[in-house]
Amino acid sequence: SGVTVIDHPLVQHKLTLMRKKETSTASFRRLLKEISTLLTYEVTRDLDLTVLDIETPLGPMQAPILEGKKLVFASILRAGNGLLEGMLDLVPAARVAHVGMYRDHETLQPVEYYFKAPEDLASRLVIVVDPMLATANSSVAAVTKLKERGARQIRFLCLLAAPEGIERFRAGHPDVPIFTASIDERLNEKGYILPGLGDAGDRMYG
Ligand code: PRP
Repeated sequence: SGVTVIDHPLVQHKLTLMRKKETSTASFRRLLKEISTLLTYEVTRDLDLTVLDIETPLGPMQAPILEGKKLVFASILRAGNGLLEGMLDLVPAARVAHVGMYRDHETLQPVEYYFKAPEDLASRLVIVVDPMLATANSSVAAVTKLKERGARQIRFLCLLAAPEGIERFRAGHPDVPIFTASIDERLNEKGYILPGLGDAGDRMYG
């Protein structure tokens, strides 16, 4: 169906701690960073390998390495940066794109305020990250922009998704698989994911 729920026990445990309203900003940030490395492990699970001729201290071998160009992580600001940090711990050579996008609180329409991406998006796997897939307005617009700049091979990684958002995202970008730690119940009238964890950007940055 193009949607993968990452149900690893450590991910689920940490997500529960993040949802609790009494979790402090410091703990929330640490948990998001920890969880993001686990999510990265899963979203990169099927990457293609090629072989490299190397010498170990005891002799030559052909050893596997990642095929192709370095990955691009595209962070939807601000909250995407909370996932980005842990991802870069795991894949330190990845390139990074920043997409500045906020939701207008009345219309819920995305407003773009920044865009900077590496030149050669067309030849790289681009993993777009944002903790929340709510209406999907932000993520659909971010992926559209990345495609306009050449990206062809894209995945979307989030922490929480609303069923409504998944449907909209799949309709807008059927070629982009979604990875999420949870599909929650629904959106409320203000476009917040229920039961969710509140506003990820606010919980991280205030
Ligand atoms: C939140 C969240 C997503 C977006 C999800 O960002 O981080 O980017 O809303 O909602 P959508 O799927 O309905 O578009 P917000 O606008 O609060 O900006 P911030 O990350 O800078 O706090």
